[in-house]
Amino acid sequence: MKKILTIFIVIACFSCTTAQKKTVDKTWEEMNASKEETKELFNNSKYGMFIHWGLYSIPGGVWEGKKMEEMGRPNVAEWVQYVAKIPRDEYAKLAPRFNPTDFDADAIAKLAKDAGMKYLVVTSKHHDGFALYDSKVSEYDIMDASPFKRDIVQELYGACKKYGIDFGLYYSHNIDWMDGGDCQYSVFKEQNDKEEKKTQKFGPNLWDPSPNTFEEYLENKAYPQVKEILTKFPGMTTLWYDMARYMKPEQSAKFYKIAYDIQPQMLINERVGNDMGDFDIPGDNQIPQDHLAITKPWQTVGTLNNSWGYKSYDNDWKSVKELLFWLTEIVSKGGNYMLNIGPMASGEVPKESIENLREVGKWLAINGEAIYNTKKWRVTHEGPTDLRMDGTNERQAHKGINIEFTAQDFWFTKNGNKLFAISLENSEKNIVIKSLAKGEDKVKYLKILGADSKIKWNQTEEGLKIELPENLPSNIGYALEITLK
Ligand code: GLC
Repeated sequence: MKKILTIFIVIACFSCTTAQKKTVDKTWEEMNASKEETKELFNNSKYGMFIHWGLYSIPGGVWEGKKMEEMGRPNVAEWVQYVAKIPRDEYAKLAPRFNPTDFDADAIAKLAKDAGMKYLVVTSKHHDGFALYDSKVSEYDIMDASPFKRDIVQELYGACKKYGIDFGLYYSHNIDWMDGGDCQYSVFKEQNDKEEKKTQKFGPNLWDPSPNTFEEYLENKAYPQVKEILTKFPGMTTLWYDMARYMKPEQSAKFYKIAYDIQPQMLINERVGNDMGDFDIPGDNQIPQDHLAITKPWQTVGTLNNSWGYKSYDNDWKSVKELLFWLTEIVSKGGNYMLNIGPMASGEVPKESIENLREVGKWLAINGEAIYNTKKWRVTHEGPTDLRMDGTNERQAHKGINIEFTAQDFWFTKNGNKLFAISLENSEKNIVIKSLAKGEDKVKYLKILGADSKIKWNQTEEGLKIELPENLPSNIGYALEITLK
């Protein structure tokens, strides 16, 4: 059974003097339940931009001539300090070299807008401990340690406001290779050893840990920085904690509560740890097989190639068609897709990312009604294609394979009495939607999103038979809006 988390808050009691305070219990359940409005917004927004950016964009996945794959796992470029076991002092020498003069917050927020994305989440501090915003808590930040001296997060925050993009922040709370000591690994290990359980060694800085304790790091850096970002950037929709592998329940509770106190409506992801998130994440680059087992709102986070941080030699870019598959498959299962860009050290966004995102945006400009504000239907997909996306490394197995779909593949979403059938293939003109065979839902009216042409259709025992017009509005597939009786 799920634990009830009791977190104490003190509120001023009106009938008492301010000196007298009343202590009120607030459970995690209550705080979580008070966020219904933002959960609805989150569910409806469907598509957003993730940004991984930091000092690691300088090496771009190569350290002293060696590529990530030659040094160890994981192969994602923002982990270079970990896989190359770079001492803290040496890694910190990247900071004076970080001068991304081509960074253009306006262009990035506009890209998100053009791409049809509704929100943006940027790494305020990743595992390396370097803050991309002006932090008064630590000097290991963009203002004090780099020559750039511009608050990147602040600029993105302003640009998002301008373009009407919702704003959120990523913050690595458990792992901090600069100041987090061993991330509490030894505490977990000692306990597990007593119980004769194995402790996984993944993530902590054990090659050159900072001399302070993890508790000191929490008190002096992580908690104050989280308070700082939440105060500096009001109106956030999500706070994205990461990798709570060595996080005690009371620490996760504190990270949840700090955020709740400052921005009560904001959603916190499950990686706050210990089952205390407001929304779930099936895993990096993972689409859940069993979406019905997920009871909270959920989000799949994905990469455009196979790395979050800029990786100079990763050219395995997902095609526009593949990206549309991820989006439609996720949305048909009731989820949300947050797709990552990893800007270069210069501040530029890789041109392949820009091009592909814009193409998806063009598709969404025509077919967006089938995506945004929708819910899952009784069927998520019909047709022969069975593509499973089980993680960043698994996805790489598809490398070189051109992902194609058939004219029999349809993904479904719904909004009220409107059902949407999305196809990613427009080679055939006579199509059949089997899930709408006579006897199932009754079709009243049917149209193609973005087109005025009249369509011939007939609901038979075999399915809903449709004759598509010669010209379709999108160059990849189409979406049918089916009004049900
Ligand atoms: C993982 C990685 C991290 C990346 C994140 C994105 O937890 O540690 O580098 O930020 O996934 O989901």
